[in-house]
Amino acid sequence: KKLIDGMTVEEKIGQLAQFNANVFSGSDADITGPLVKNGLTGDDLYRIGSLLNFKDSKEMNELQKRHLEGDRNKIPMVFMMDVIHGYRTIFPIPLALGGSFDTELVEECTRMSAVEASSAGVQVTFTPMVDYVRDARWGRVMETCGEEPILNGIMGAAQIKAFHGEDMSKAGCLATCVKHFAAYGGAEAGRDYNQVELSEHILREFYLPAYKACIDAGVDMLMPSFNVLNGVPAVANSWLMKKVLREEWGFEGVVISDYDAVGELITHGIAADKKEAAKYAFKNGCDIEMCSNGYIKHLKEMIEEGIFTEEQLDAVVLKILELKKRLGLFEDPYKGASPETEEKTCLTAENRALVRKAASECAVLLKNDGVLPFSKEHKKIALIGPFADNHNIIGFWSCCGKNEESVTVKQGIQSKLPDVEIKVVKGCSDKWNEIDKSEFDEAVKAAREADIVILCLGEPQNYSGEGNCRTDLDLPGVQNELAEKVIGANSNTAVLLFTGRPLAISKLDSIAPAILNMWFPGTEGGNAAADLLFGDANPSGKITMTFPKSVGQCPIYYNHTNTGRPISKQRDEMHNPYASNYIDCGNLPLYSFGHGLSYSNFVYKGLELSSDKITKDAPVTAKITVKNDSNIAGKETVMLYMRDVYASNSRPVQQMIAFEKVEIAAGETKVVEFEIDESMLRFWNNEHKFVSEPGLFKISTGYADHLIYTTDLILE
Ligand code: BGC
Repeated sequence: KKLIDGMTVEEKIGQLAQFNANVFSGSDADITGPLVKNGLTGDDLYRIGSLLNFKDSKEMNELQKRHLEGDRNKIPMVFMMDVIHGYRTIFPIPLALGGSFDTELVEECTRMSAVEASSAGVQVTFTPMVDYVRDARWGRVMETCGEEPILNGIMGAAQIKAFHGEDMSKAGCLATCVKHFAAYGGAEAGRDYNQVELSEHILREFYLPAYKACIDAGVDMLMPSFNVLNGVPAVANSWLMKKVLREEWGFEGVVISDYDAVGELITHGIAADKKEAAKYAFKNGCDIEMCSNGYIKHLKEMIEEGIFTEEQLDAVVLKILELKKRLGLFEDPYKGASPETEEKTCLTAENRALVRKAASECAVLLKNDGVLPFSKEHKKIALIGPFADNHNIIGFWSCCGKNEESVTVKQGIQSKLPDVEIKVVKGCSDKWNEIDKSEFDEAVKAAREADIVILCLGEPQNYSGEGNCRTDLDLPGVQNELAEKVIGANSNTAVLLFTGRPLAISKLDSIAPAILNMWFPGTEGGNAAADLLFGDANPSGKITMTFPKSVGQCPIYYNHTNTGRPISKQRDEMHNPYASNYIDCGNLPLYSFGHGLSYSNFVYKGLELSSDKITKDAPVTAKITVKNDSNIAGKETVMLYMRDVYASNSRPVQQMIAFEKVEIAAGETKVVEFEIDESMLRFWNNEHKFVSEPGLFKISTGYADHLIYTTDLILE
């Protein structure tokens, strides 16, 4: 507070401004380029409170040092970056990581990335991203944990805990920023930045809970989303930013706009100019403006005009300085980052080992007619497809990870089986507009001559991520035709799939003997693939976002309502007139939420409730018995679902309420227990409240469209 008393209004406003580090490229005597483009002057240079997206610790150190020399208040800048699935050692994309259902693994990977990022000068990460999603066309589904609100919240909270570490003021510990508030994942037609129109109960039950879980877990910052939500862009949406976030949830942390989102209020047709845009954002509690210059140019003027008071500004500055203090920046503005620490910390053998394990825990065995795992005794392997020897498998938002540092499938198999003959044929391109079949004959020949075939297909990594949406969810280009030819030539084929989203691969599913989905597995993808293919690891990942049969089914998700005219599973492939279905495609997806096979054979033996009645004060225990009826140890995620059969709102046919991943030895039987309490049975009713309504509930285990046991529970 003393520091604030001594600051000029301009200096205070500077704390609210964040720019890309590239505005500072060039010396301060040489103020040109981006600085001028952003309308900044030399005086602004030493006032800016935070930067994003710098190169490395060397650049960070130089920028901080120069800043501190020039700033008479000696307030360090805070350096932010998107550390999404690793800093330099990259682990699987979040959509894959969520499917591990393993919070410890998520914490371990996140902790590793925090330590690496901190050694390079990152102090705040724009993570976790917990946008709820239902439409695989949207490119940013790869950054989320999918279509299950509880899972999203749990994984977000695990990341926050791991980034914070023991003490946020120490090296290796980062502050966090939950994003994108709210419902960015609800973009119409799966097109990025598109408008979102959602009823309050859908928002409250599906889209908002994960952000709230992150706030409860102590997230430091929050980023409003780019999109218009029910008519008003998030950053200027007073219902969202003031009523829900600040008043109801009591969030006291720092709100930072998304990249130029304040400036975009003009393009949205909400503000006439930058001044008005800044006014709406500040009024609705946006504390830091990222990469547009409305605050720095107009906030002082608005204070002079009486639109805002200097006390309001002071309160925001205090919050930002408190964050810097919690981060320990006043003691060490560099937090120990240096090229030497960075070199020692990043991409170590230990980190590589961790992400190799993570990549195999996240992979999902979508189909297996018995070809997998392959024996290591085979002498000749044909490795075919655009991902056979491709380093571009780390996935979008890979921070400072480098494609060339990743292990390709070929490299992974070669190092596991050094004496085996591997014939690599790319076969075709993975791009939608590259139609070249000239390598098909060579691929077929290689397949014919080999003992086993590993067919590596998928979509390029830049087909998902921000701004990368698709209208076709099948394998791009001529990959299906390649698959048909290759599998026709040798049925001892397993497909390795690389993707940043659920794909509509009905055609491939109908012909491939086995499909192992690697998602984008990160730096050690090739090694993890080899571990799984040859039985050194046992697949245990599940999908957390439904794979449609056809893009026309999108949005498709497991927790939907029944409609008044549902069709039975048995009649799914037929057209049922006057029922809720399609003429040319069933309603069931290709693979449901929770699907994922194993080399073990898990047999569910029963679901028992401690009572068939539940009250507010008397929770019930559910016991689920699972046997590993095979001679291979494995891991199974046991899931508990509920259905509120009759209520004042039509309720989803299933909702996951708990899960636990357990390791089960060969032949062993395990009992997994969950406590069900009344709060798990609530929903957002038409009187705008979370309530549970007495009556019949169904409690089940299994997964989504494949429930195995169901039993009644009465809420009294
Ligand atoms: C993205 C955010 C990200 C920000 C900063 C934006 O384009 O939407 O998720 O945190 O850039 O890199």
